[in-house]
Amino acid sequence: MAVIRLGDIAPDFTADSSEGTINLYDYLGDGWGILFSHPADFTPVCTTELGTAAKFKDEFDKRNVKMLALSVDGAASHKEWIKDINEVQNTTVNFPILADEDKKVSTLYDMIHPNADNNLTVRSVFIIAPDKTVKLILTYPASTGRNFYELLRVIDSLQLTSYHKVATPANWKNGEDVVVSPAIATEDAKSIFEKGVKEIKPYLRMTPDPTA
Ligand code: BEZ
Repeated sequence: MAVIRLGDIAPDFTADSSEGTINLYDYLGDGWGILFSHPADFTPVCTTELGTAAKFKDEFDKRNVKMLALSVDGAASHKEWIKDINEVQNTTVNFPILADEDKKVSTLYDMIHPNADNNLTVRSVFIIAPDKTVKLILTYPASTGRNFYELLRVIDSLQLTSYHKVATPANWKNGEDVVVSPAIATEDAKSIFEKGVKEIKPYLRMTPDPTA
């Protein structure tokens, strides 16, 4: 098993899911993707996470991000659990959950950490760009549900920095000022960023969000 690092090509796979057979690359098309694993069906934190993910689907759609969940449970289990999620989270799970019973995908993506609980998948997140490169990897323990606002925030940052020569500062949110890429000289930055460049230090230059 090769370790996947930022900038690597996300390995392709074909696997069963709650919505039938899925091929990753076909599913993503030329959009972005978020592949996220949870430890097990019918567990409390996972139930809140998958319900929250469903409520956020419109926001992922707006950003052209396809959602794909995964655990090592089977498709029949996922379908039964989805009924519970919809009931208790008052939502409709509207994205596929991969049924990785043979651990093919979770092994490919190193989602099973032998020192974590019971040889189950940890809470991994992979954000995949349209060119299929891995742009973000997160690993959370079973005891901590993920923050879906943060996932949207980091996607906003990744999408902005993919298309503009900027980076985003700590706690940045969509629409706030951004950092001019260190690779650009301040004089050049002034002509590139029409909304203006504020030089706080020679290495710290801010500019309004070019898309706002
Ligand atoms: C949970 O989703 O609540 C959970 C799953 C596995 C281990 C611990 C908690």
